[in-house]
Formats: sequence, C-alpha cells, structure tokens
Amino acid sequence: MKTKIAEKNAPPSNDRRWKIVDATMKKNNYSSRALIETLHAVQDSFGFIDNEALKYISDSLHVSNSKAYGVTTFYNSFSMKPAGEHVLLLCTGTACYVKGNDKILDFIKEEYGLEPGDTTPDNKLSLLTARCVGACGLAPVAVLDGNVVGKLSVEEMIERIKEWVENEQD
Ligand code: FES
Repeated sequence: MKTKIAEKNAPPSNDRRWKIVDATMKKNNYSSRALIETLHAVQDSFGFIDNEALKYISDSLHVSNSKAYGVTTFYNSFSMKPAGEHVLLLCTGTACYVKGNDKILDFIKEEYGLEPGDTTPDNKLSLLTARCVGACGLAPVAVLDGNVVGKLSVEEMIERIKEWVENEQD
C-alpha cells in the first residue's frame, strides 16, 4: 500500500554539489517540467551526468528514466562522460566572489589556462563554476573533487589549489 507522504530520495552521495541540484528541483516543486533545468544543474556542477544522477533526478521528478536519458543524449550541452579526471568547482556566488574567488578565477586562468567549462589538454583537470554551493558561511568556497574548501585567504586558497593539483596529477 502506498504511503501518502512521498519519501524524499537521497542523493547519490554526500557531495555538496547535490545541494545545488536539490535546490533547483525544490524551487520547481519537483515538477517534471524542471527536468532540463535540473540536468543543467548537474552538468554545471559535476561536468557530466551519469546514470546514477539520471536515476536520482528521474525518481525525484517522477519522470521515466528513459525520458531523462533521452533528453540528456539529445542535447549537445549535456555530456555523460566526465570532462577531466579531476574537477575544480569554484563558487562564483556573490559571497564567494567578493571574498576573493574573482582573483582565484584569474589565477586558474593564468596558471592552468582554464576558463570555466574548460579542461586541460591532458584531460587531468576541469574547471567548473557554480553560482552558490550553499556554504556561504565558508566563503570563498572551492570544491576539489567533491571536497569543500573554504574560509581561506586568496593566498591560502591558491596554495591549497596548487597542492591539490600537484598531488592529483602525479
Ligand atoms: S556564494 Fe559561494 S557558497 Fe554561497
């Protein structure tokens, strides 16, 4: 027998980026019409949309998995494969931007030649940006392969990113 209160699906992992996706669905009252906007939220936050993400979204928005899959493969702006091996997501929401992420963006461009959405030619590192990852209290925030880093000065953040890139590229 069906219960009247719908159970909220749990996101595929504790990765903070799911909060962005959840916020998009919530804002649209979990309407099936939010499918494309939600897929964009996943693409922008993770750089790609995998089967797990599709299942979560289709269950949450009550659309069939095949429809979600069909929409994802139809539009060129969606990718089902990860861009780079490692993903640096920089929050460019107001709180993070004014606390130094504008400078971090400049640093990443200078140091690694990456604009938001780009991947290095060796496929090791992708840069993504998000408008708010829901951790404004930690501004400025960067998410390094799903791990939130924040409350650092610009210099400290640059050091942290450099260390991460160097360790991950070995
Ligand atoms: S503006 Fe960066 S976490 Fe909210």
